[in-house]
Amino acid sequence: MRAVTVSGFGAAPEVTDRPAPEPGRGEVLVRLTAAGLNPFDWKVIDGAIKDASFPLIIGTDGAGTIDRVGADVTGFRPGDAVFGQFSKARQGRGSYAEMAVASYNAIAAAPRTVALSEAAAVPTAGMTALNLVDHIGDAGRLLIVGATGGVGTFVAQIASARGITVVATASEEKADLMRALGAAEIVDHTAGPIADQVEPQVDAVIDLISDTERLRDLLPAVRPGGIILSPVFAVPEEGLPGVEAANFSSAASSELLERLAREIDSGHVRVVIGDTVTLSQAPEALARSRAGRARGKTVIVI
Ligand SMILES: NC(=O)c1ccc[n+]([C@@H]2O[C@H](COP(=O)([O-])OP(=O)(O)OC[C@H]3O[C@@H](n4cnc5c(N)ncnc54)[C@H](OP(=O)(O)O)[C@@H]3O)[C@@H](O)[C@H]2O)c1
Repeated sequence: MRAVTVSGFGAAPEVTDRPAPEPGRGEVLVRLTAAGLNPFDWKVIDGAIKDASFPLIIGTDGAGTIDRVGADVTGFRPGDAVFGQFSKARQGRGSYAEMAVASYNAIAAAPRTVALSEAAAVPTAGMTALNLVDHIGDAGRLLIVGATGGVGTFVAQIASARGITVVATASEEKADLMRALGAAEIVDHTAGPIADQVEPQVDAVIDLISDTERLRDLLPAVRPGGIILSPVFAVPEEGLPGVEAANFSSAASSELLERLAREIDSGHVRVVIGDTVTLSQAPEALARSRAGRARGKTVIVI
């Protein structure tokens, strides 16, 4: 089967021919329609996971149709349309491939109202967004920094549907998109310091971009005792003064995927695809994401 692989950490991704994986106990083999690109994919190439085997198939997210189920799998049958996470770096496996294996508890029935190529863009960003919004609870005003990307577009929709007032960063060209996704206020991060443009202060910040120094610059925009969550691990060990600041690792489960599928099928959440590429264009798409030039979610149609 065709797959996008790297021969070692830091190597250039390339399309190669790999044997299709075999589903083990508790696993399903899926014929993928599409894979979804996440920044984590190039972070893995850069060494974010130490115990990977090579050649390593890149990619976590995907959607497709079950080809075969392994032993002890209940609830799924060949032919079922599913979406979820397929990354098993330790075994050299991932989702930028014609066939991929997933644990039964890392997938769920795909949303019925969108194409599988759209569903492939959902798992990691969508589950992270659900986790983040669950974590901030009933914050009245939320600032999302990096709002126009994969995670941010889901956070904006989920938070605004819960009645939270969303303040989203976006350049002028993406402001209308963010308003359509539920943002009540837009802060143009290209026009000047973010904190100068946020008034009144917010109860919570979800920051998908900033390093520690830029997080500190945001403090005047947050009310005393407010929450700052950093999925990019920018909160220093000693925390940040006057606020509850924490680094954030997302959980993943089939229950979260089922919740996302329900949100999508009920029309509360839409999937914002910026780019659709082929398997052979995936290396270029990874380079664009690494350079910060990705537009919305990128889907790799297989
Ligand atoms: N810890 C976890 O569990 C976890 C889970 C998921 C993701 N993450 C991490 O979270 C980060 C975001 O993920 P993602 O999938 O949303 O990435 P993404 O799709 O690449 O989105 C990032 C967005 O940030 C915007 N941006 C860039 N510089 C900015 C700035 N200075 N101010 C405001 N916005 C800016 C970009 O939009 P413009 O081009 O419009 O500026 C881009 O769309 C990644 O580093 C990812 O690895 C962590």
